[in-house]
Amino acid sequence: MTAGRASQPLLEVRELTHHFGGLAAVDGVSFTVERSEVLGLVGPNGSGKSTLLALVSGRLAPRVGEVRLGGTIITGLTPEAVCRAGIAGTFQLARIPDALDARDNVAVAAMYGRRRLGIAAARAEADRLLDRVGFTAPRAAHGSALTYFDHKRIELARALACDPGLLLLDEWLAGLNPTELEAGITLVRSLNADGLTIVMVEHVMHAIRSLCAHVVVLSAGRVIAAGTPDAALADPGVVRVYLGEAA
Ligand SMILES: Nc1ncnc2c1ncn2[C@@H]1O[C@H](COP(=O)(O)OP(=O)(O)O)[C@@H](O)[C@H]1O
Ligand SMILES: [Mg+2]
Repeated sequence: MTAGRASQPLLEVRELTHHFGGLAAVDGVSFTVERSEVLGLVGPNGSGKSTLLALVSGRLAPRVGEVRLGGTIITGLTPEAVCRAGIAGTFQLARIPDALDARDNVAVAAMYGRRRLGIAAARAEADRLLDRVGFTAPRAAHGSALTYFDHKRIELARALACDPGLLLLDEWLAGLNPTELEAGITLVRSLNADGLTIVMVEHVMHAIRSLCAHVVVLSAGRVIAAGTPDAALADPGVVRVYLGEAA
């Protein structure tokens, strides 16, 4: 590999902008994600984090700006094409369809995602991925019989079934109890150790500090700080928006 290639970021977001009616939910956002890093995306409620992930994953098309994966422009591709390019994620409002059991919820993603496996291979892959994410409930159980953390694990296994190089996590750790949270943090860390690059939106600052080398802080659709968690979260502008939210 050449030095030039080695130094190219995996993800580059440039001047990304998206409006909902008159509201600039994401407003000229630029940042890069290096290969094998875990980047934290933080900011108060409504600051544009989920919209930003929707723009990167192809669920929304930006009006302005560009997304590059490994140097290739992927802006405006469909979610399926973005998945084939190597980006998958868990999303804040994702639901596990109750019509399918746990295994088949994951198998479907392996059949229609990047790898297009046949049903037998997809089910075997689903079992492997459910093991990988620490899912211990019966594979034939349906969503209504499973715990919240089981749902979270199925969602994550579905994303991994796309065989992504870049994983987007939108508050995947939210709502877990303290024991589950530690298990979740350990799992995210081990996925990164296996070579996955990760962008995580998270409110749990303990998780951000323990997993992320860098964070990007959004407020009202704009980047207001970026850097190491310690430096960015201590920035006076960042402290102000968080105090504003708490008030
Ligand atoms: N589908 C939508 N239609 C209209 N407004 C939206 C929609 N989704 C998000 N918004 C608005 O865009 C802003 C950013 O939302 P969001 O990206 O969900 O923020 P965050 O994930 O940081 O909480 C908020 O003001 C929110 O109300
Ligand atoms: Mg959100």
